Amino acid sequence: MDTLVSVGITGVGGYAPPGVLTNHDLEQMVETSDEWIRTRSGISNRHIADAATATSDIALPAARQALERAGLAPDALDIVVMATFTPDYLLPATACTIQHALGATRAAAFDLAAACSGFIYAINVIAPSIATGQFRNALVIGADTLSKVTDYTDRSTCVLFGDGAGAAVLQPVPAGRGLLASYLRADGGGCEMLYIPGGMTRKPASHETVDARDHYVKMSGNEVFRFAVRALEEAVLEALSRAGLTAADVDLIVPHQANIRIIDGAAKRLGIPEDRWVINLHEYGNTSGGSIPLALNDAYEQGRLHEGDVVVFVAFGGGLTWGASVLRW
Ligand code: UT7
Repeated sequence: MDTLVSVGITGVGGYAPPGVLTNHDLEQMVETSDEWIRTRSGISNRHIADAATATSDIALPAARQALERAGLAPDALDIVVMATFTPDYLLPATACTIQHALGATRAAAFDLAAACSGFIYAINVIAPSIATGQFRNALVIGADTLSKVTDYTDRSTCVLFGDGAGAAVLQPVPAGRGLLASYLRADGGGCEMLYIPGGMTRKPASHETVDARDHYVKMSGNEVFRFAVRALEEAVLEALSRAGLTAADVDLIVPHQANIRIIDGAAKRLGIPEDRWVINLHEYGNTSGGSIPLALNDAYEQGRLHEGDVVVFVAFGGGLTWGASVLRW
């Protein structure tokens, strides 16, 4: 194991479709108000793909941007991983569509399903293969087109979700930099707190499943909220402790963008000052797999990532899944 190399993020990218759905638009669609949505979630806008746009279409611009910023040609990629629960098709993996469109002619490709925790899961699945030398250049994408699986007659979910994508190039980095430690968890006992009941093998698509709107996301918002607050704090503290660090060492924290009240609660309990948190949910809502890499891209473009910074990613979501990673940028 003395040949292990450090693995870090050497390029990031982000993309959201141009169409914007505002709180005022939603007031015309369901019984809700701009005031309720803003005060209960912090969200004002979300970006929504048009009918012809699939998840690979929003993932590609993010992927190209990450490659360009890493100075890496697509044919140098060894692997493409796509974290999503809204693939273009169930078969084949959307990562293959992206691999082909990029011209990543030497790369393997697969999708990973861990809902909102997908990006963190994906970097942790891939990093050890780079550390051991099996792969050198990896592209990890998190992207979801939630608008395609959102029930726009259900006010408890439709105000929260949007479409977005982010990408990161993972490569060997100098010793002491890159991924320091992580903490990943799952609890399938919470499956029905956040799921799509119909359309697959448990309840294959039929006229009945469509009439029952079972192909849309169903969520027990209150239960997920309580889980999220606990999960966020636990994951950050565990990952930091595995890295031999504490909350006071954190320079920047990129949380899953679900609800500002969840983030504010965690920020207080962890004692990590507000200005260290990257927040863009007011503009994009919850984009699930896209959430963390899209926010990371915003942080990059705003000049908030500096060499040597301690950066934390933290997510929670369907599965249930949750986890955090600590990096030295
Ligand atoms: O990616 C991970 C995923 N998901 C999350 O992180 C979501 C976690 N949960 C949440 O963010 C919050 O639970 C919600 C934003 C979904 C809901 O906020 P809440 O403060 O937990 O509200 P609530 O569900 O307790 O509902 C309070 C009231 C209810 O009315 P009554 O029963 O008190 O009369 C709801 O029917 O608000 C009502 N309500 C709404 N009112 C206006 C629910 N949705 C809406 C709405 N507009 N869109």
